[in-house]
Amino acid sequence: MPLLNASGCLDALTAPEVARSLDAFVTKTVTPLPREGNPPPRIAETDDWMLNSIGLQNPGIDAWAEDSYPRLVELDAELWVSVGGFSAHDYALVCERLDDLKGVAAIELNLSCPNVDEAPETAAELTAGARAATAKPLYAKLSPQTSDIAEAARAVEAAGADGLSLVNTLRGLALDPHTLRPRLALGAGGASGPALRPIALACVHACARAVELPIVGMGGVAAGRDALDLVAAGATAVALGTILFADPHAPARIRAELESELRARGHSSAAEIRGIALGSAAPAEASSK
Ligand SMILES: Cc1cc2nc3c(=O)[nH]c(=O)nc-3n(C[C@H](O)[C@H](O)[C@H](O)COP(=O)(O)O)c2cc1C
Repeated sequence: MPLLNASGCLDALTAPEVARSLDAFVTKTVTPLPREGNPPPRIAETDDWMLNSIGLQNPGIDAWAEDSYPRLVELDAELWVSVGGFSAHDYALVCERLDDLKGVAAIELNLSCPNVDEAPETAAELTAGARAATAKPLYAKLSPQTSDIAEAARAVEAAGADGLSLVNTLRGLALDPHTLRPRLALGAGGASGPALRPIALACVHACARAVELPIVGMGGVAAGRDALDLVAAGATAVALGTILFADPHAPARIRAELESELRARGHSSAAEIRGIALGSAAPAEASSK
């Protein structure tokens, strides 16, 4: 079962050995123009979640293509590039640039960053614009912050997405216990980590029912059991995000844990349990064990 990093949670140029321990490396989101990101503090943490408001800090596509891309292809890890922007034109422009770069295996469209203003177009319109600009595989990364994620999945599938990445962070607010003011300079931010797990699982489950697309599941994965759950809900690959900040060895550990979780249930590969949760609920007796 392919294991990736979640966009923005691993810098492959400073930790190349971690990138090589994955099946593909996903870059932090790249936009048409350079961005400094939001003012600090822009990270707040507890054991259960991380809150960030990085705000798509990146060098812009021109500097990325010139400086980062040649070094990333040398790493010899499959390269996915996350693309963001503030209009359909922005997404199409970056996708068009990436289309010429042989070393880019896939593009992930970040359609759902909670820390910046959204493009006025819908996720489907942004996907359609990107589709017209590149022949590379396109993964649409959706927000869990919607009343009907299955509907969004059907819409991006119809617009030409080749896969889904589920999910991005969920908007949250954390207050300083003494001052009772927001811990992040901008107020709210994107919540990730273990608190996101059941939400990600529900989103993967709903989308796997709705569309035939491959799904990269992510959200709070910290152990093999979490990866197992996402695959059971219908994910075809799993991405590690917040856990990588605490445990750079997580990819090897989670792979080993997933294998023993599968073996303990009498399976030899993740493919054997993929989508098993899409069937009917377990009998009450079995599920209470
Ligand atoms: C510090 C930080 C930076 C992130 N930057 C991006 C980003 O640039 N683009 C993006 O699509 N998602 C970004 N994300 C969201 C993650 O890719 C992922 O969707 C989310 O954190 C859920 O996974 P997790 O709970 O395993 O971290 C970021 C998350 C964190 C914690």
